Formats: sequence, C-alpha cells, structure tokens
Amino acid sequence: MIVVPGPASQMLGVEIAKLMKNASIAPVIFKNFPDGELYARIDKDLKGEHVIIVQSTYHPQDHHLMQLYELIDAARSADAKKITVFVPYLAYSRQDKKFLNGEPLSSKIVCKTIENLGANEIYVLDIHSELVLKFFTIQTHNLIALKLFGAYFKTLSLVNPLIIAPDKGALEKAEAAAKIMKTDCTYLEKSRDRLTGEITVEIKEINVKNRDLILIDDIISTGGTMVKAIEMAKKQGANKIYAACSHALLIENAKARILQAGAMDIIGTNSVDSECAKISVAPLFVEEFLRNK
Ligand code: R5P
Repeated sequence: MIVVPGPASQMLGVEIAKLMKNASIAPVIFKNFPDGELYARIDKDLKGEHVIIVQSTYHPQDHHLMQLYELIDAARSADAKKITVFVPYLAYSRQDKKFLNGEPLSSKIVCKTIENLGANEIYVLDIHSELVLKFFTIQTHNLIALKLFGAYFKTLSLVNPLIIAPDKGALEKAEAAAKIMKTDCTYLEKSRDRLTGEITVEIKEINVKNRDLILIDDIISTGGTMVKAIEMAKKQGANKIYAACSHALLIENAKARILQAGAMDIIGTNSVDSECAKISVAPLFVEEFLRNK
C-alpha cells in the first residue's frame, strides 16, 4: 500500500501513512508553471500497488482539484492496481442540484472527472449533500467527523453544554456529538436567498441562558451563518460559545468576524490545512479504510 499525500493535505497524508501498518509514502513533487498552470509528479514506482491519494479540495478549489486530477491520472498511467482517493472536503458539493435555469451541475462535473480518470473508490468527510455521491458509480464512503467533536469538547469543562446545529440538515450529525457528551442538541431555522446569498436565522424556542454552546456545522465558509447564530445566542444570554465545523474554509476575514461576534474559539478538522485544524480525521479514515478492505 502506498499513500500519496497531495499538496493540499500533506500532513494528513503522512499521518495516515504512519497510522497504517505496511504502508509507505510516495513523495509528490509539485509546482506552478510561470503562466499559472500546475504540475504534480508522484516520485515512486506505483506498478501493481494499491495507491491511496489524500488530497482535500478546499480553497483555492480549482487549483486543488486540478492537482487531484493530475495525481489520479499519474497513478493510473503508472499502472497502480487500485486507486483509493480520500478527499475530505469535496469541492462544489453545495452545488448538488440546479437551483436556477441555465446553471451547470458543478458537483457532477467533479465526480465524473474523478471517476473517469481512474479512481476506484472515494472517501469523503461529512459531505454537504449525500446527493452528490450518487454521481459516482464507483464505491463511495462518507466519513462522519462530527462524532469526533463530542470527544474534543468533553475535554473542556463546559457548563451545561448545548449543541446547536445551524440548520436542520446538520442536526443528525450534531446529535452524534451530543450523544458522546451526554447532553442535548437542537437546531436553528436558517434560510438563504439564492440570488443575494443573504442568510436569515430564525430564533426558535431554545433556552440558552447561562449555558455553554457549541455551534456545529459541516462547513464554515464566509462565517455569515455562524456570526448570525452567535449574535442570536448572545442576545438570548448564552455563556461561552464555540464555533465548530468539519470543513473550516474560513474565507477572507471569517475568523475575525466569528471571534469578534463572541465565539471563544473556532474548531475545525484537518480536512482544511489551517490553524483551526484542531481535530485530526486521520484515525477515522484509517479505521474505516481498514474495516472496508
Ligand atoms: C450550508 O448549508 C452549510 O451547511 C453551511 O452552513 C454554510 O456553507 C456556511 O456558509 P457561510 O459560512 O458562508 O455562512
């Protein structure tokens, strides 16, 4: 077994290789050409090997996607026996259907390309919409990271904690964390204007007064959703508030806005390589991968 740590997920890839028994690491040499085009080369003989490519596709998405495509193509043309790709954040998963006439189905383009290039199976992490996985005919696995948050928050001494998913879609996953923390869990009603992107968070009947809150979502992108939820929780008298997510994209000044709104901390996973990657998903991947092998 050979693990290929892609340029976007070098530390995660190496951690995965170390956790796997009998796996070696294939170094990736990568660069940008002067005109901006990308180059990635796997510096190891892959003939007849089961190759695991680890490459998340967070911002800049198209850059990281192209590197993923290059690595799959390189492994396929080097005669790998089997190619497993682990793409914790699968870009374009929020574009899982056509919302307006004339739109493309961007997530389908990504899935079809990964598959057509020769990947044999794909692992993703807390994918925004499971509908996207239906665009693949190869085997798919959606790892659920949110249960890892329960273990993380258990180590902080929180007062009467309440886990809040910023929308109903995230509730099921938030419940996994709540179960581990032996606490309760609820969600906010959120809607987004398809044209302007404006978010409205509706306050439900939640008594958050003097409670420590963990706001948990699959993605934090601009931070708009979290900021609204934090402001609402503050108004209702919440105590400490933590912002947690599987994919901390944190575009532009999202970090500052979330902390400024009143969050104690932002906790993400190493799906995105950043200072907020406080939880590693490597053990989760390795456990699932070895179980399915
Ligand atoms: C959307 O439905 C997702 O679950 C997240 O709530 C959303 O992507 C967060 O985006 P932003 O941080 O830009 O509000």
